[in-house]
Amino acid sequence: MSQSSADRIVTDLRKWIEGVGAGTQLPPSRELAARYGASPVTVQKAMRILVGLGLVESRPGAGNFVRGTRLTRPLNFSWQTSALRTAAGRLPVLSTPMREVAVDAIGLHSGYPAKELLPQRAVRAALVRAARSESALSRSPASGLPELQAWFAGELAAATPAGVTPVAARDVIVVPGTQSGLSSAFRALAGPGQPVVMESPTYWGAILAAAQAGVQVVPVASDADGPDADDVARAFAETGARLFYAQPNFANPTGAQWSPARRDRVMAVVREFGAFLIEDDWARDFGIDDDPVPMAAYDDNGHVVYLRSLTKSVSPAVRVGAVIARGPVRERMLADRGAESMYVSGVLQAAALEVVLQPAWRSHLRALRGQLRERRDLLARSVAEHMPYAGIEQLPPGGLNLWVRLPDEVDLDRLVRDCENDGVLIAAGTEWFPTEPSATFIRLNFAGPDPSRFPDGTSIIGRNIAEQLA
Ligand SMILES: Cc1ncc(COP(=O)(O)O)c(C=O)c1O
Repeated sequence: MSQSSADRIVTDLRKWIEGVGAGTQLPPSRELAARYGASPVTVQKAMRILVGLGLVESRPGAGNFVRGTRLTRPLNFSWQTSALRTAAGRLPVLSTPMREVAVDAIGLHSGYPAKELLPQRAVRAALVRAARSESALSRSPASGLPELQAWFAGELAAATPAGVTPVAARDVIVVPGTQSGLSSAFRALAGPGQPVVMESPTYWGAILAAAQAGVQVVPVASDADGPDADDVARAFAETGARLFYAQPNFANPTGAQWSPARRDRVMAVVREFGAFLIEDDWARDFGIDDDPVPMAAYDDNGHVVYLRSLTKSVSPAVRVGAVIARGPVRERMLADRGAESMYVSGVLQAAALEVVLQPAWRSHLRALRGQLRERRDLLARSVAEHMPYAGIEQLPPGGLNLWVRLPDEVDLDRLVRDCENDGVLIAAGTEWFPTEPSATFIRLNFAGPDPSRFPDGTSIIGRNIAEQLA
């Protein structure tokens, strides 16, 4: 087994603790170190976390024990119910793709790539250097480090065809992850009660951000070629919406890439209605069969507000992304960002910049493409072999996920629960639909789990589906 981190040990032991009574002694540290292939220091760290969480107590000389409820009087928070009043909108605490995985589980639910697919050495070295640089002790400008703004602008400019004026560094706002850029877009460019058009299915985080901003989501169906431009036009005309949130390249969850014809027609509709396209280019670095060209590269009239994330390709710990927008909309976005978070940590920006400026970054991306292809194809083969009732409508030309259609009779909640009990985590497709799902889907991530476990994982899902249909 590979070395476990303290967090993984904690996650696993928390599950164990749930199943045993108060006062149960935990295995000795030596045994835990052997079980998890971890160092004694890591096990001690995990114990300190569990003690801090109030789940374990340490009895010097005797060992560590599952803690009983020590409270002599029940705490009373009922006053908060009156103080908090009705929630503006109830948000789920965490979507399935963000759940932690127990040590031995097969986590096909997650949205992130495995660390083997990250430029690990470059990230570690860049963080060390950033810690030693001026950025460790200073405040960065509100719209980001100028060199990083220039890099983001340069990347988009490089994809811009002749005849279109490319973006400049000043058009870039660096954000602490594009999730917060999305929240800003919905809040600052629409606002409570205002309509925002979205593809269906679409990214669950966009659905959450829309709910948080109190905007009214107007769904338009999107297939492997993208949305029908007439549907988008109708949605604009009927609701008065002036924002369309979309993922033209390798959409999460379907992996779909808009065809050139759809791109042109949708862009024409966006212009005709004087609207904005919020282009979420989350998978810019995850092209497999095709190089993604952003819609933003073809727009110099300020219709496209472009979101570009580095979180999943550089490192989830270097959470840096960009919003690129031109005209007054950029000022509107910047004002919202200022009120929300003022500026992004200079250390993270410096580290991200150092990684993407190295020549090794380009070779890393080329190698990544091959690794993603292998993983995608292996998972697709495993689905075909072990999940006979399931279908993949389109092998995604990029991204990190397979979107798998199941028979409509399948009870998804039950399937997710049963698979989890059997050690496989999957994400129910319902989370990607802003309104009622059009059919029954699950999303399986091929970039996260160990590919050697794809056959086992899909066999377990396949068996559970078959049991439901029997
Ligand atoms: C489609 C899509 N957009 C945006 C994000 C947000 O990414 P980040 O905030 O890490 O930049 C994600 C993350 O899962 C995503 O899948």
